[in-house]
Amino acid sequence: MSPVGDPKQLEVFVRRKAFHAANGGQREVLRDFSLTLEAGKIHALVGPSGYGKTTLLRIIIGLDRDFEGWVRLPPETKIGVVFQEPRLLPWRSVLDNLKLAAPLAAVEDLTKLADDLGIGDHLHNFPGELSLGQARGVALARALAIAPNLLVLDEPFVSLDEALARRLASEVAMLVERRLVTTLLVTHDIDEAIRLADHILLLGRRPAEIVGNIDVTLPRRAMTADYAAKTKAQIGAILAETSV
Ligand SMILES: Nc1ncnc2c1ncn2[C@@H]1O[C@H](COP(=O)(O)OP(=O)(O)O)[C@@H](O)[C@H]1O
Ligand SMILES: [Mg+2]
Repeated sequence: MSPVGDPKQLEVFVRRKAFHAANGGQREVLRDFSLTLEAGKIHALVGPSGYGKTTLLRIIIGLDRDFEGWVRLPPETKIGVVFQEPRLLPWRSVLDNLKLAAPLAAVEDLTKLADDLGIGDHLHNFPGELSLGQARGVALARALAIAPNLLVLDEPFVSLDEALARRLASEVAMLVERRLVTTLLVTHDIDEAIRLADHILLLGRRPAEIVGNIDVTLPRRAMTADYAAKTKAQIGAILAETSV
């Protein structure tokens, strides 16, 4: 059952999510957890490893229905997802990977998107021929190819070199800003969260809860080192108090 709320927002409430533990008991990951995503904004979900970020994403996108609670998506939500591993079809070219995800998209649009994400020269390569950075570019292009209005990204820039991670991230930020895509980005990189997000949600405690909700009030283009440093200190203080 879903409650009545702002139909443009995404709302999720997890009364309880637990996994079976190896010792036969249960490990509770989320309890009385709620989250609201504002339409058209980029939200960064930041928290230590093992706190339930991926679990929450899988619940939001409908991959995990084994929980108590509810997810309310705005009407006609089209979800684009990027997992930590690129998960491309190895026996299909890059272009075919994109076409399979978005059969209705014009090849011209797919090519433009690939160019934007730095993989325009690799449309006829196979995934095995790509670097990790290029494969992540393809995974991002594939998620964006369907013209989603909700984009869910699970640490999509992890283990890339800093320069490449920044370039891809800012490209994605520009694309979602232009298209007004509601975005949830899971990251453990606080600098990245400050650079990209409109809202930063900090995950802490166990079972996990939102321990901090920080609005980045400077527009992305106007970010300053000073503002970023202050925000980082504020986040650091909250995390130090709440991480266990
Ligand atoms: N399929 C599963 N079976 C059992 N335990 C799981 C499963 N998936 C996740 N967990 C446990 O749930 C907790 C949260 O995992 P996860 O959501 O992957 O964390 P994060 O993405 O924040 O690193 C971890 O303790 C993890 O071991
Ligand atoms: Mg994870």
